[in-house]
Amino acid sequence: MRKTSVLTAALTAALCHNAALAATQTPLEIKLTETVLSSESVTKALRPLQKKQWWHGKVAYQIYPRSFKDSNGDGIGDLKGIISKLDYLKALGVDIIWLSPVYASPMVDNGYDISDYRKINPEFGTMEDFDELLAGIKARGMHLIMDLVINHCSSEHALFKKALKDPEGPEAKYFYFKKGQNGTPPDNLRSYFGGSVWEKVPDHEDYYYLHYFAKEQPDLNWYNPDLRERIYSMVNFWLDKGVDGFRIDAIMNIAKDTTFPGRPPDLVGDGMADAKVMTALHAGEVPAMLKEFRDRCIKPHDALTVGEAFGLNEQILPEIYGQDGIFSSVFDFTVREVFEKEPGYYSYPKASVKLYRDSNFKGQLDAQNTGFASPITENHDEPRAVSFYLPESLQNAKGAKALATAFMFMRGLPFIYQGQEIGMTNTAFKSMDEFRDLVATEEYQKALDFGLKKDEALKAVALNSRDNARTPMLWSDEKNAGFSDAAPWIRIHQDYKTLNVQNEELDPQSTLNNYRKLVQLRKDPAYADLFTYGVFIPYESSDDSFIAYKRKNMQQEAVICSNLAEHALLAPLSGKVIYETGGVKIEDGKLFMPSGSAAVLVSDSVK
Ligand code: GLC
Ligand code: CA
Repeated sequence: MRKTSVLTAALTAALCHNAALAATQTPLEIKLTETVLSSESVTKALRPLQKKQWWHGKVAYQIYPRSFKDSNGDGIGDLKGIISKLDYLKALGVDIIWLSPVYASPMVDNGYDISDYRKINPEFGTMEDFDELLAGIKARGMHLIMDLVINHCSSEHALFKKALKDPEGPEAKYFYFKKGQNGTPPDNLRSYFGGSVWEKVPDHEDYYYLHYFAKEQPDLNWYNPDLRERIYSMVNFWLDKGVDGFRIDAIMNIAKDTTFPGRPPDLVGDGMADAKVMTALHAGEVPAMLKEFRDRCIKPHDALTVGEAFGLNEQILPEIYGQDGIFSSVFDFTVREVFEKEPGYYSYPKASVKLYRDSNFKGQLDAQNTGFASPITENHDEPRAVSFYLPESLQNAKGAKALATAFMFMRGLPFIYQGQEIGMTNTAFKSMDEFRDLVATEEYQKALDFGLKKDEALKAVALNSRDNARTPMLWSDEKNAGFSDAAPWIRIHQDYKTLNVQNEELDPQSTLNNYRKLVQLRKDPAYADLFTYGVFIPYESSDDSFIAYKRKNMQQEAVICSNLAEHALLAPLSGKVIYETGGVKIEDGKLFMPSGSAAVLVSDSVK
């Protein structure tokens, strides 16, 4: 009798389980376990960097100038275009704008190859336009940080052009010129963009120069004091103009073993080893190398620096962005590192909500033992998060809003990437000639070499390409999505007729209006201290697609939860709902969460 009822109950449960998966509204009950942090971690977290910095509690936004807004009808975004959208950014609640490079550049890598660090690229405008932009940002009480690309410059830089003519002359000492060995390069390192890091010097065939990225991006020799002096002076030029700081590009690469001994070949099978291995090996040397830069440029201006720092390890984190670290902050790339360590797009593991959650949780926990990391979900080097991490049924506004909730309350300085706030998804690239990124071509070839068929290689590139983030911002349903009067330099996203700022302005439930609410809530004086300095405490969940964490200080606590599963869930959570999207309800002391919903719950007066 008893046995039968147990069996019946089990069967019923199994049936209900299946039914729940099918009928999305019947919730599955989940278990949550709050992670217990050591009192040492809590103490560390509650005293971030010990003293308050001007940028604490702020929200940042990245602009990719080529794709933001074109003002003069040449199909390329520009500074005047950005100026025309400053009120839009202010209304979103943005405090700090990071501008990807706008310096003079032949644009081999879209401005990450700089030929003159004190000039504005004419395709973006003039120095007067820049000054107007900076003034417009300040007038609205916002801040500007520029992109500082100082691991390498452009092969069109005047110094490099001189160096190339005389690999033994004084200018060559600003770079790495080295003789090969019997017609082979000095070592076996592989460039981030494919092929050897060494390129032959024309007319001096026994000489090579070093480039960790494209051959048009020669690496700068940070061991040369004259080079460093030039950099300090250039950096101070921008800071003296009133720029508030920098996002610092590819910075961990400056430390090298200048004997270039090579590394054991990796699994790719071309006899080479990735340059990133060399970088990771020498990561510990970077803080000392940048101390002078920080003390002579950054500190006197109280500037903000956010390092693009791949290849970190736990031991050096305090020196990187702790109390007396060289940077104010670094991007949290924990999830991105999972992909970056792979040989190519073709071998990337499938991304998922679980991967996003677990990596960010780890990143957050490491960060709060150190200082203030900068959470990101997208940037100009990654595909759109909604397409990348979310299940198919949530690759839409619903999913975008639930993911935004999980993202916006993490600890640190969050960076929203242009278009993320309207829930842009990946662009439907249909053939290789629609891509503009040099990496796309390289990755396509790699995939073919690995043995993928053409359509499979295209699929791998389309899913992962950096161009997904670089198609124009969708402003309206007009021609070229209101981005430009002319055909843009890269194709427009397929959904621009419906997915655009203009539409979302009119809809109070849009992704854009939800981002506005989330940003406002994060900065609401009633919770600002909690969301800025509060400890981050993750929950373990019995459902892989449920993201829940707590923020807590001495007085308050908030629980942030997002259901990114394809079915409804019932979570053992309660409290006062101060934000909700997707139809969250409290039922019998539990939280009913449809697929693609999210909530922020608070309870006051925690001892
Ligand atoms: C950084 C930039 C990327 C660029 C590379 C080389 O990773 O974010 O866009 O291609 O550095 O400068
Ligand atoms: Ca233009």
